[in-house]
Amino acid sequence: MTKDEQTNSHAALTDDNHKALWSGRFAEGPDASAVEFETSIYVDERMALDDIAGSIAHATMLGECGIISAEESKQIVKGLESIKNDLKNGSLKIDYSAEDIHSFIEASLTDRIGEAGKKLHTGRSRNDQIALDEGLYLRRVIPSLVQDIITLIKTLVEIASQHKETLLTGFTHLQHAQPGTLAQHLLAWATMLSRDVERLKDSLKRISLSPLGSGALMGSTLPLNRERTAELLGFDSVTLNSLDSVSDRDYCLEFTSDFAILQSHLSRMCEEVVLWSTVEFGFIDLREKWSTGSSIMPQKKNPDFAELIRGRTGKVYGDLINLFTMIKALPLAYDRDLQEDKEPLFDALDTVQANVKIFTAMIATARWNVERMEKRCAFLERAIKKMNLSNVRVRCAQVSTLEANSFDMLVLRAFHPFTEQIAHLLLSITRQGGTIVAYKARAERIQEEMQGVSKAIPSYTKIPLTVPFLEDHERNLVVI
Ligand code: ARG
Repeated sequence: MTKDEQTNSHAALTDDNHKALWSGRFAEGPDASAVEFETSIYVDERMALDDIAGSIAHATMLGECGIISAEESKQIVKGLESIKNDLKNGSLKIDYSAEDIHSFIEASLTDRIGEAGKKLHTGRSRNDQIALDEGLYLRRVIPSLVQDIITLIKTLVEIASQHKETLLTGFTHLQHAQPGTLAQHLLAWATMLSRDVERLKDSLKRISLSPLGSGALMGSTLPLNRERTAELLGFDSVTLNSLDSVSDRDYCLEFTSDFAILQSHLSRMCEEVVLWSTVEFGFIDLREKWSTGSSIMPQKKNPDFAELIRGRTGKVYGDLINLFTMIKALPLAYDRDLQEDKEPLFDALDTVQANVKIFTAMIATARWNVERMEKRCAFLERAIKKMNLSNVRVRCAQVSTLEANSFDMLVLRAFHPFTEQIAHLLLSITRQGGTIVAYKARAERIQEEMQGVSKAIPSYTKIPLTVPFLEDHERNLVVI
């Protein structure tokens, strides 16, 4: 919709059903630019299905408790189902003159079923409704982000399994430090990401209570059955304190913190991809379809996708700061400032989800320059050979081929040999007169690490969430 069309649709706010829910208090209609300024529908429209699910549960409960008639309840549920279907098939378009998604759905319902539609608001406020919608939305979409991270972890484990023997220099201070393997490096990335999965799973636990029934702030005098709506919506139970329920946005802070940490991991990984794709390192060769070029410097193949992922870190961190700043000093209970929670929350979510997907595709197709990696690793061997080691005494353990002795720990403590090659190197040094004993090669350690990461994956996929009134394929659906 163009800006002009939006303004026209704001100006066309004449129909009774589509007036703001609070319009009865005012003699004057809203100024078009005021509506445009205050609306949140551009941001919250993505929660349309969650809003409908919450409303179906609410109307069902109202009917069961006799607060509205069984017939009215049935009519409302049927009307909501038809709205859901029409949104999905595109025959119902979002009306951007509405104040928010809740108002739009309620107005559309009243358009369809008449006066009974207005009874959906019974015992409910948009204040508890928005908290509910956000909870439902996060419970619906976070598992798909978790799945995407798991796919990336599996991709890294798969590449690692092909490079258990590929020597790669390990760096500290970005200086050649100790020899390692590409497998171990990739598994370090996988391990970082597995903590992200754990964190997201843990945060999901804290949105397992339904805030519905908290009303505007003090609950309701009607005999609502909050446990029933919680049950219908797949929550474990209900929230305790109604003031807290409508003003709590910890989940926004918590999930966005999770996203920020995940983003920090992706950014660090991308930094290494960028470094490794330089002529100087030359460890990785990104596919052309995951690179860009330069018209005036045709020799270049740029790792733009890694750079863009890294570059979007500021957005995600900014979203987190935005949320913390918005919430700071807000008195209980609901304040309109809280409407501003969705933009940063969704932006951070969308950004990390896209980044995880793009990183996976980019890394899965990259070519690894094994020869180059091993050559750079050999630099360590040369460096060590050049040293005068005749006076160096090293304490070693797990000796396989050589005699065990106990020595002072010195330079060669730096070596944690992972491979037979390193053991042989040390052996040759020993033969040159140094009193050095090699550690047993530890390639099997990598095997263990791989098994460890892989073993954890099935538990990540067990996120027992029931998504109310939605088919499996609708989990990731965004109706716009
Ligand atoms: N659009 C609002 C939000 O996102 C919904 C709640 C509005 N409540 C109110 N009392 N104005 O927070």
